[in-house]
Amino acid sequence: MVTWSILHVRYTVNKMKLAVVHYLIPACFFLAFYCGYTSCKFLESEHHPHTWKKLFLVHHWPVTVCKMNENDCKDPPKYWTIHGLWPDKVEECNRTWHFNVNEIKDLLPDMRQYWPDVLHSSPNRTQFWKHEWEKHGTCAAALEPLNSQKKYFGKTLDLYQKLDLNSCLLKVGIKPSSTYYQMTAIKEALTSIYGVTPKVQCLPPKEGEEVQTIGQIEFCFSKELELSNCTHSKAESYVMQNGWPFGTEELSVCNDTLTYYPAQV
Ligand SMILES: *[C@@H]1O[C@H](CO)[C@@H](O)[C@H](O)[C@H]1NC(C)=O
Ligand SMILES: *[C@@H]1O[C@H](CO)[C@@H](O)[C@H](O)[C@H]1NC(C)=O
Ligand SMILES: *[C@@H]1O[C@H](CO)[C@@H](O)[C@H](O)[C@H]1NC(C)=O
Ligand SMILES: *[C@@H]1O[C@H](CO)[C@@H](O)[C@H](O)[C@H]1NC(C)=O
Repeated sequence: MVTWSILHVRYTVNKMKLAVVHYLIPACFFLAFYCGYTSCKFLESEHHPHTWKKLFLVHHWPVTVCKMNENDCKDPPKYWTIHGLWPDKVEECNRTWHFNVNEIKDLLPDMRQYWPDVLHSSPNRTQFWKHEWEKHGTCAAALEPLNSQKKYFGKTLDLYQKLDLNSCLLKVGIKPSSTYYQMTAIKEALTSIYGVTPKVQCLPPKEGEEVQTIGQIEFCFSKELELSNCTHSKAESYVMQNGWPFGTEELSVCNDTLTYYPAQV
């Protein structure tokens, strides 16, 4: 079963390569780089003393988030959702700039759908967004396109929708399954779709388990909001943990071994 799955994935990925080259790359590339080639370029002429250099757009797989938490977590979304948009190196840059949900009123339907607090699904709970704003947003706000709560959350939703990770993964045949994937096949597929290497994080095997479980996919962006390669430098491992209570177990960079992409908790 497992062997079949690996071959199947390899085969599917190879078979899809042509399609990826001809259709997906232009589509996804265009969307992902659109911002970089247009309105965001002017930022280069700004000279604020930013202490960070990159942003991470972090997606997580809600089923794995639930698996990491012993609490009840009913019916997590079956699509990748937003964890956050995090500048590297810094956090909590302005402790007096408090989260105010009224500033993102227009965004709430999208926020609830794409940026839910997976473990606490009550629709009016805003603590997760408050945490993300106060820890990361107040730092990201050093950039003009992110310098208000509405811009920070709005731009994050925007980047998420342009990357369109859920559709892109489905199109190359990578979907939740009871059989396992080779991590290298997942990474290669992501790199061929986006032209950059994201960072993929996994939950290490629990006792009695054989395989790691995919949990998080982080895309790196420059300050011009252009997609860039994620490199595994020390600076980048700094923000790997977000400090939001999603469970006591920790994600870490995936090993190149068999990987579970769970369909349900
Ligand atoms: C911090 O946030 C407050 C409230 O929005 C603002 O008045 C102040 O200028 C900010 N400080 C810095 C250093 O950005
Ligand atoms: C949630 O907020 C909306 C609008 O702010 C309000 O109309 C609704 O009654 C609230 N629901 C709960 C369960 O508090
Ligand atoms: C990857 O392998 C290292 C060394 O064996 C281990 O410490 C780590 O927990 C593994 N990570 C995952 C996500 O399984
Ligand atoms: C990312 O890295 C790949 C391979 O190293 C390279 O071909 C590509 O141009 C890089 N992309 C960007 C946007 O830097």
